[in-house]
Amino acid sequence: MEAKKAFFLRRPFFCGYLSRSRRKEVQLQLLRMMFSATNAIIVILLLVIFILVVSPLLSTTAEVGELSSKTSSSALSLSSSEACCAVMCTTPPTSCCLACSDTSSDREHYLLMTAMEGITHHIMDKHYATNNDKQNMPWLASRAWEGNSHIGNRPAQATYYYDWIRSLVINNGEAVERICEIGMNGGHSAIIFLAATTRFTNKNKNNQDDDGVVSNSSSGIISNKSAKLIMFDLDQYEYSTTAKKYIETMFPGRFTYYPGNSLITLPQWTSNLTKTTATSPNEEEKCDVFSIDGDHSYEGALQDIRNAALATKQGGYIILDDMNPGSGTRKALDTAVLVDKIIGQPKCVENVLIKVGYNDRTDVTNARSLLISWCSAVVL
Ligand SMILES: C[S@@+](CC[C@H](N)C(=O)[O-])C[C@H]1O[C@@H](n2cnc3c(N)ncnc32)[C@H](O)[C@@H]1O
Repeated sequence: MEAKKAFFLRRPFFCGYLSRSRRKEVQLQLLRMMFSATNAIIVILLLVIFILVVSPLLSTTAEVGELSSKTSSSALSLSSSEACCAVMCTTPPTSCCLACSDTSSDREHYLLMTAMEGITHHIMDKHYATNNDKQNMPWLASRAWEGNSHIGNRPAQATYYYDWIRSLVINNGEAVERICEIGMNGGHSAIIFLAATTRFTNKNKNNQDDDGVVSNSSSGIISNKSAKLIMFDLDQYEYSTTAKKYIETMFPGRFTYYPGNSLITLPQWTSNLTKTTATSPNEEEKCDVFSIDGDHSYEGALQDIRNAALATKQGGYIILDDMNPGSGTRKALDTAVLVDKIIGQPKCVENVLIKVGYNDRTDVTNARSLLISWCSAVVL
């Protein structure tokens, strides 16, 4: 009985009545069946695991892969310092022109625009308008003055220039010492450059700033390390003298004016810099940034760029106004970059729509719409 029990324990119960060989066959079949059933279960289990666990993981990986490839392709053109770019350049495409929307506050821009209007009204008061004119010509109460001839009529560009220069000052501090410009007209761009390079300093308990200057002002005072502006202009308009006085009052000790043709006055200025060798002007005394907005012919603009490059530190910037594609000034930039190779890395903001009123109009709603462009480049 014990042996029979042991037998049944050793064999499947339904095999007890089969012959030995048949029993083996059945056992083998059973094993095969169990094996294939186990396989099926394993396959099903694997499928379930795949659907529930691996598949979502795979799709996440695909998304991350897509995202990182997107990030890395845009990272090629956007460094972290450029990520705050307010205006993207169109030339080269999707590059950034340094202007940062978080460089300056709305209040600063409001003040900037107020300053633009301030100098316009000052000039109008001195030179053109009587009170009667102002009543009859509403355009006088706007920034519309002398048409498209100055940046005060172009708030988007004024804001851009301000932010661009301001970010240079913030990033480089006292290294931005000298801004130079050809083309003053009514002094609007001059005000932008001077405002953007104004540096404040806190006083010590003796009311002295870092430079030892004493002031009773309650807030931070203007540092004498604020950058200087050197202006070259034909001086052909009477109102430029009025603008000059206004700017000297607003920014004492920071504005120097060289009247005359820039093709003569600028090389003279550069040749008067102290020399490090018999012929090389001291780099330290050169301009950090040079804005060119004078002669708008191809030949004149090209010569201005050549002279400005010599007057500007290596690695300094040239800013160029009125750079509409196809214009003489834009061709001059191309020649300086591609043929002369004296400046490089050109970046342009192109075709920004502005509305300009002209002084022969009496209705600002009838202002002319213009597309304007400007560029920057680095001195090589
Ligand atoms: C477009 S306006 C400058 C506007 C000014 N940058 C602004 O946005 O407020 C051009 C100025 O360049 C001056 N100009 C033109 N040709 C010049 C030259 N060869 N040398 C110096 N100044 C010149 C004109 O007298 C005029 O004042």
